[in-house]
Amino acid sequence: MGTKQEETEQTSEDKDAPQQDSASVADVSVEVATVDHTLRMLRRMYRKSRRKPKGLKRLLAYVLNIPHITVIVTAVVFVLVVIIWSLLWVFIIRRESYSGAYFAGMFRVANVEFLPEYRQAESHEFVSIATKIQHVVSSVYKTSSVARLYKQAVISDLSNNDQGGVLVHFWMVFVIPRVKSAVMSEEFVGAILKNSVLTSLQNRSSVGYLLGLPVDIDSILINVVQRSDYTSNTEDSQCVDKLYANLPGVSVPLNVFSSWGGVSCHVKLTSAPGSLIRLVVSSFLIEPTDCVDDALVVYDALLPMRGRILHSLCEPVSSSISIVSTSNVMLLSFRMSDNKSFKGYFEAIAEEKCVSEVETQPEGQIYSPFYPSMLPPECACTWKFKTPNPGLGVALHFQNYVLKPKDMKGCNNGWWRVNEVIFCGIYVGYHTVFRIAHHSPAVEFRCSSPNSVQPFQASYSSYNISHPCPESYFLCTTGLCVERSRLCDGLDDCQDESDEMLCSRPTMNCGSSSHPLFVCNGEVDCSHGEDEINCTQETTCSEIRYQCRSGSCILKKNAKCDDVPDCKDHSDEADCDCGHPTPVNKGGSSTGLHRIVGGVNSVEGEWPWQVSLHFDGSLYCGASVLSSNWLISAAHCFSKDRLSDPRYWRAHLGMLMQGSAKHVAEIQRIVVHEYYNAYTFDYDIALLHLKKAWPASLSPLVQPVCLPPSSHTITDSHRCIVTGWGYRSEDDKVLPTVLQKAQVSITSQTECQRIYGLISPRMLCAGVPSGERDACRGDSGGPLSCQAPGGSRWFLIGIVSWGSGCGRPNLPGVYTRVTKFTSWIYSHIS
Ligand code: ARG
Repeated sequence: MGTKQEETEQTSEDKDAPQQDSASVADVSVEVATVDHTLRMLRRMYRKSRRKPKGLKRLLAYVLNIPHITVIVTAVVFVLVVIIWSLLWVFIIRRESYSGAYFAGMFRVANVEFLPEYRQAESHEFVSIATKIQHVVSSVYKTSSVARLYKQAVISDLSNNDQGGVLVHFWMVFVIPRVKSAVMSEEFVGAILKNSVLTSLQNRSSVGYLLGLPVDIDSILINVVQRSDYTSNTEDSQCVDKLYANLPGVSVPLNVFSSWGGVSCHVKLTSAPGSLIRLVVSSFLIEPTDCVDDALVVYDALLPMRGRILHSLCEPVSSSISIVSTSNVMLLSFRMSDNKSFKGYFEAIAEEKCVSEVETQPEGQIYSPFYPSMLPPECACTWKFKTPNPGLGVALHFQNYVLKPKDMKGCNNGWWRVNEVIFCGIYVGYHTVFRIAHHSPAVEFRCSSPNSVQPFQASYSSYNISHPCPESYFLCTTGLCVERSRLCDGLDDCQDESDEMLCSRPTMNCGSSSHPLFVCNGEVDCSHGEDEINCTQETTCSEIRYQCRSGSCILKKNAKCDDVPDCKDHSDEADCDCGHPTPVNKGGSSTGLHRIVGGVNSVEGEWPWQVSLHFDGSLYCGASVLSSNWLISAAHCFSKDRLSDPRYWRAHLGMLMQGSAKHVAEIQRIVVHEYYNAYTFDYDIALLHLKKAWPASLSPLVQPVCLPPSSHTITDSHRCIVTGWGYRSEDDKVLPTVLQKAQVSITSQTECQRIYGLISPRMLCAGVPSGERDACRGDSGGPLSCQAPGGSRWFLIGIVSWGSGCGRPNLPGVYTRVTKFTSWIYSHIS
């Protein structure tokens, strides 16, 4: 986890501070001495005053003996104090200490017939029922403990509800003293309304009568909103539109264009009760600013309620996506700067009756409800499979989804019940096969995420329960079948390395079938060097083969930027302005001071790609420079609320000592890997897009690190160094000022899995057995840079991710394995 830089090393000024403190403590102790001591002091003062010259004594006596002067002075002081206090009160204290608190809410009024006129807020019918509801809400709050703070309630929309009755959307405004603002939470405000309904609940129903108004307690939802949401939504706003889709299957076009000055607009969509709304976004041409300037937020309500966000679109959309609501209302909240455009349509659709009987012969596909639309927060599907005979089970092949047995945590991406056993769905970056050893299983799926999530698709087939994989194939933990000959070949064929576990350390067979890991890895493993010949010869492509720009693959593993042109098109030596530091002062690097955990001070220019990421002004994480406007870091640095807002972050570049950056960059956008898992730290990678490119003149003190191709392999003779300004030991309280570096070696994946258990193929472990050198809190997101023996360039092999404590013996640091993300990275930065 990242850490705020609460304390840094003491500077010379810091060192003075404690001395001043002790001086003031000494002064106080003189003042509060005993009564005797005080009397002695007074006596001394009295004696001193007696010794004063006569003229002064007379003057003093004169002043003291005129009582009316004292009275006048006292009165003037009093008047002045009163005036200053009143001014302060009127202009500062009173103004500052009160603020508006805005809430949006909704509830269902049962047993009321919905009239079509309710759709028009100007209609007589709307005004009449809205006034009544408003009166009820007001009296609830005016008789509550927050009566004095309550200002008003505004009924904004009435819609017809498929459960019957009318769904009411309303705003509420409170004026509260700042000191009490924490108390006025949405839970508290909601509880006042719920409690009032609760006391009048009719037996066995969720409806209670509030001053005669039948309110469904289960439908009450109240959320805090921004003042701007309130002002831009209420009646006098220029940019609120209401649209209806009454006939199912008829699409209503929706185009929004922002001219000069940009727009902040709300479009309220409603369809017939019992139907749902599907919004189709054909194109959304915006600037990606992480939802700051340009965004479309889609709500599952008619007011911008945080608890009802279906989806936020903050990136340009070029291929169509669609979103489905859970009822017959939807709010689109557009924020678009100059010259941006939205094109799409919406339609009323029927709720999906998703129950089907599926014969597994022939093979086929199952789809998530509303496919290819995103999955809404509520849905349910049941598939009843049937295979031709009891010896055959059902295999479900997913592209990027896996079913894991449910643990104590809830399911966030789909809840599954397969023959009474509960599983949770998780999105992953690889294929999986879920095998059900039963010939007629019932598979039930329910949407279970608070917002909309990606749709899924699975192909089904039957399989032989007693022999899940064909002869000479191996069954991976991911359910895939891979050829036995692929076991322990150094390639992650199973996608979870289950084919590479329990392998003895590969031995080099210098005959015809050399182990692929040793072939052309830049090191002579066979006595005659036969493992390192013909390395530029073209070969079939795979994850461990270097691919030239032309598309053909060569045997040489670390061909990229090794100063030798290997590809016919020389593409392996193109774009190699990276990973080549020019340290300013070589001598200073080995002063023996122990930092990072067991590290030493770096020198100026030694790690020009190292970045210090400051959140809200304090060091929080590290990062590395990838190009003139992209940095790379760890996803967990940005995973919670404010941490994901790019505006709070600053990237300090070209820095050796904290506070002396050559350049401080603002962040435009943070791209966290879509499969990042905050529980397992899998896919712990993020990219940061800078607002402006750093000045080229800063090179070579600022320079990108080389990005390894997925084929890049690290051997024991590589030098790997972790760098950062993080803590120097597990319970350290002071962060170092100078950038620290420590050499670590890569631990084998099997060993690391043995130590930690949960090590995914996207993780890599590095350390030293004694634990004396390691990364620690504050180093997260920073680089683990490796250099080939005799090589000139450094490659980014790992990103500091997690570990058990810091620097503990036999507990290596865990890093994000960068080679697994090469194409993901390029897909965003190029
Ligand atoms: N997660 C930590 C951070 O936020 C990094 C921990 C690395 N720990 C280790 N033992 N290598 O800074």
